[in-house]
Amino acid sequence: MKAIAVLTSGGDSPGMNAGIRATVRTALTGGLSVFGIRRGYQGLIEDDMISMKSTDVSNILQRGGTILHSARSEEFRTAEGRAKAAENLKNRGIDGLVVFGGDGSFRGANDLQLEHSIRVVGAPATIDNDIWGSDFTIGFDTAVNTALEAIDKVRDTAAAHDRLFIVEVMGRYAGFIALEVGIGAGAEEILIPETVTDIPAICRKLTERYKGGRTSSILVVAEGDEEGNAYEIAEKIEKHSGYKSHVTVLGHVQRGGSPTAADRMLATKLGYGAVKALLDTAAPCMVGVQNGVINRHPLADAWTRRKNLDKLLVQLSSGLE
Ligand code: F6P
Repeated sequence: MKAIAVLTSGGDSPGMNAGIRATVRTALTGGLSVFGIRRGYQGLIEDDMISMKSTDVSNILQRGGTILHSARSEEFRTAEGRAKAAENLKNRGIDGLVVFGGDGSFRGANDLQLEHSIRVVGAPATIDNDIWGSDFTIGFDTAVNTALEAIDKVRDTAAAHDRLFIVEVMGRYAGFIALEVGIGAGAEEILIPETVTDIPAICRKLTERYKGGRTSSILVVAEGDEEGNAYEIAEKIEKHSGYKSHVTVLGHVQRGGSPTAADRMLATKLGYGAVKALLDTAAPCMVGVQNGVINRHPLADAWTRRKNLDKLLVQLSSGLE
């Protein structure tokens, strides 16, 4: 292998830049040329890439977002799109690709390798933390801390005005963010897609707490909860109990900002591990960090295996409020 490329795909996550930096510098140190592909797979199809040197990744470690930009490409989902992408890589003599992204991005990478023999390695980067094979994904820790800071502030107003707040955090299919944020913020209820959300039971508990002297409450809901988003939950609670609530949707604020130390370490390990894996793994592969150690898994595990929530955290999500 003489040249590799790196791209970021799907939703950006804090720490992607640290991952790009580690990828570029590990490759250069190992004597490989490195190309940075802009705008994910769409940029790859359009041959939007630049040769990268060490100084191109200076001073990015601490920055959120991604210097390579990211995108969700419909064209790359087609065989024609992937053929164009492979041709662009081959024309530049690139035979390995590192993809920072989530499981959707990994599926595309997998197809690229199977159809066109370009070696691919996936490095899990999404604030959702919903990828099997890595204890955490790049950006999760930062997103949790960002949301926590916001909810601590909401708590002040909830307490000052004796209000019920419903705060929605990201997580379309998974409750990892809501669970950690909810526990960290001492939320009275945590609503996630993985557990049954029982609106009448929530209302009963709110009433009991009010009777016990509590004057304000915060409910944290994952956007993908089966009972709906924060506005829908607020409506259902009001319909059932008459309790009015204030809704705060944290949204994309959770995707931005300077990565935490944990995310910088994780991204650095994964960028390094991805280049090493490219050099000696023939099949499509994903790198993850489990118990502090860099591991390799078949790329398809990322979407065929389901990562479960920490059972202890699920237990702690009720009973302490
Ligand atoms: O997958 C990361 C994520 O932030 C989800 O939590 C969220 O549902 C989604 O991306 C939002 O995507 P977009 O920025 O494309 O609206």
